[in-house]
Amino acid sequence: MALHPAGPLEAAVVAALQQACFPDDPWDEASIATLACPPGGFAVLALNGEEPIGFALARVAAEDAEILAIGVLPSGRRAGAGRRLVDAVSTGARRLGATALFLEVAEDNEAARSLYKACGFFSVGRRPGYYKRRDGRVAALVLRHDLSAG
Ligand SMILES: CC(C)(COP(=O)(O)OP(=O)(O)OC[C@H]1O[C@@H](n2cnc3c(N)ncnc32)[C@H](O)[C@@H]1OP(=O)(O)O)[C@@H](O)C(=O)NCCC(=O)NCCS
Repeated sequence: MALHPAGPLEAAVVAALQQACFPDDPWDEASIATLACPPGGFAVLALNGEEPIGFALARVAAEDAEILAIGVLPSGRRAGAGRRLVDAVSTGARRLGATALFLEVAEDNEAARSLYKACGFFSVGRRPGYYKRRDGRVAALVLRHDLSAG
C-alpha cells in the first residue's frame, strides 16, 4: 500500500471513495474539490497498486487541524490503511503549522473509535444527537490529538 497526496485535481477519485465509504452521506465532487483546496485543505489517497482504496480529507486553520473525513473501502479494511492515513494527515497538518488535530466520530462507530484511540486521540467533548440514524440519533464525540510532541 502506498500513500499519495491529493488536491482538487483528484476530487473525482476522492468523491468516489467517500461515497463508497459513507453511502448514507455522500459528498459531491465539487464540494470535495473546495475542501481539498490549498493552502488550508488537503487530501491523501491510499493506493493498493494502482487502485485507490482509501482517503483522508483534512483542513488546517492556524494552529488547529481537522480531519473532515476518512474512509477505507470495505475490502481493504484491517490492513493498516486507516492508521497510515491518520499518520499522513498528522504529518501534513504539522507541516502546515498545526499543533492539534481534531475530529468528530459517532459514538456508535466502534471501528473508527478504536482506530483513533490507537492513534493517540482523546475525547474532549460530546455533541448529543449530532448524527442521524434510521432509528434515531446518536452523539458525536469530539476527539483531539496533540501534534506538538513530534
Ligand atoms: C474506520 C476505518 C477508516 C478504519 O480503517 P482500517 O484501514 O480498517 O483501519 P486499520 O486497519 O488501520 O486499523 C487500525 C486499528 O484500528 C482499530 N480498528 C480498525 N477497525 C476496527 C474494527 N472494525 N473493530 C475494532 N477495531 C478496529 C484496531 O485497533 C486496528 O488495529 P489492528 O488491526 O492492529 O487491531 C474504516 O473502518 C472505515 O472506512 N469505516 C467507514 C468510514 C468511517 O466510519 N470513517 C470514520 C468516520 S469518523
